[in-house]
Amino acid sequence: MKGRRVAVMHGVNLDQLAFRPADHYGSGTLTELEVRVKRFATDLDLDPTFFQTNHEGEFCEALHEARERSDALILNPGAWTHYSWAIRDALEIAGKPAVEVHLSAVDQREEWRRVSVIRELCIGSVSGKGIDGYREALEMLKEALQ
Ligand code: DQA
Repeated sequence: MKGRRVAVMHGVNLDQLAFRPADHYGSGTLTELEVRVKRFATDLDLDPTFFQTNHEGEFCEALHEARERSDALILNPGAWTHYSWAIRDALEIAGKPAVEVHLSAVDQREEWRRVSVIRELCIGSVSGKGIDGYREALEMLKEALQ
């Protein structure tokens, strides 16, 4: 189990976390989030890598590379979650167990945020739990990798 590689992938606008509504996203930065997620992963004997981009094609290319480089995926694609069929297809190409995570409670916000085009390809989905949602996702992946 030790050292299974989990790619933690953030999409559009997640690099701007510190400037987004704190009631939905908390008040920390993406770097602070990554430090906490790294700690969660280490506690579970998982080996995380972190990626963020504001460019959809780059996110797709990172998923293509994940086929070789990762054993499992955590995805928070931001707004792309709700409409990017390109990312949905790239996730299928990656072919790894994946969990979708959202800091905010997407199912209780605007109608358009309730749609996820990646959910059907994920083994789980966590939303509305802030950074702790990533720990839950890591636990799901650890279980799936056993
Ligand atoms: C988000 C929710 C999305 O609807 C939004 O566009 C984001 C962040 C979340 O983490 O709650 O950028 O994925």
